[in-house]
Amino acid sequence: MRLLVTGGAGFIGANFVQSTVREHPEDEITVLDALTYAGSRTALAPVEDAVELVEGDVADAALVDKLVSACDAVVHFAAETHVDNALSDPSPFLHSNVMGTFTLLEAVRKHGVRLHHISTDEVYGDLDLDGSERFTETTPYNPSSPYSASKAGADMLVRAWVRSYGVRATISNCSNNFGPYQHVEKFIPRQVTNILTGRRPKLYGTGANVRDWIHVDDHNSAVRRILDQGGMGRTYLIGASNERSNITVLQAILRLMGRDPDDFDHVTDRAGHDLRYAIDPTVLRDELGWTPAHTDFDDALRATIDWYRDNPQWWSPLKDAVEDRYAKRGQ
Ligand SMILES: NC(=O)c1ccc[n+]([C@@H]2O[C@H](COP(=O)([O-])OP(=O)(O)OC[C@H]3O[C@@H](n4cnc5c(N)ncnc54)[C@H](O)[C@@H]3O)[C@@H](O)[C@H]2O)c1
Repeated sequence: MRLLVTGGAGFIGANFVQSTVREHPEDEITVLDALTYAGSRTALAPVEDAVELVEGDVADAALVDKLVSACDAVVHFAAETHVDNALSDPSPFLHSNVMGTFTLLEAVRKHGVRLHHISTDEVYGDLDLDGSERFTETTPYNPSSPYSASKAGADMLVRAWVRSYGVRATISNCSNNFGPYQHVEKFIPRQVTNILTGRRPKLYGTGANVRDWIHVDDHNSAVRRILDQGGMGRTYLIGASNERSNITVLQAILRLMGRDPDDFDHVTDRAGHDLRYAIDPTVLRDELGWTPAHTDFDDALRATIDWYRDNPQWWSPLKDAVEDRYAKRGQ
């Protein structure tokens, strides 16, 4: 398969490209990435001989048309992704997430190319902290932040292009990912690298908010399964049934790094902070036979911590600027 991977120099995209090179050496991969602050060439260094990296904007219609015309399928990861950044300045989120997806849809429509669109469970809003309800493929959209609203808008465009133009597309909405190459602005890498650089971890509010954590390789194995076997026009929810409060995750990191469980600071909570996300992955399991491989959270978290400990050259150039930005917001 000739694959175009948008956002393939970001966290999940780079892991997807690396695992595809390992597991499907027959595929030809082109990455389209704007190399924003969140993208890094070095995340693709281990596979640079096997992949073509094109630096460009997914909202650049001429470039996207040319690249789409030369591929069999597009896996669309490219997006602005950090909720705190969206709260400060939503504009790039509308550009990359909404206009970028629109641009790609027009190109796959013109060239009859298969699309898999990567989205998030955040489009569904949040759930009661104490409830047992989980998101399913039919949960109504109810986004809370400019980030999730822009992803919801992109998902709606994909659905409309399937219905109106018969575009061959699938959508997946996944829960919170962790693993190597995640930007240090995000929750788990931020805490780990705070400890590694002698800073104290920072917890928003009381830390009661619950997230449903999945290892990035499990997300990507599900994406590949949907790309190969998913039903056209279908939406699949990807999750590993691994709900944990933020304070529990932080204390697991502290424990695994040999620190006192109370060795952190509470900081100003995020505006509109979603309370709880939880995915019901039954459809993916029953229809496509997908299950996650990284089911021991402590083991997967320990491996992730080890990766950050072993790869300071990848993240340390980013760290000070990220912490300066957080400090200005009192976080
Ligand atoms: N991280 C998570 O926990 C999570 C969970 C569910 C879904 N998702 C979705 O997965 C996708 C990837 O997320 P991530 O965590 O890897 O994000 P990331 O921020 O680490 O990477 C995003 C990548 O997209 C690129 N990009 C941004 N705007 C672009 C544009 N206009 N043109 C081309 N490239 C552009 C960036 O340079 C970067 O390489 C996103 O669509 C996100 O909504 C993420």
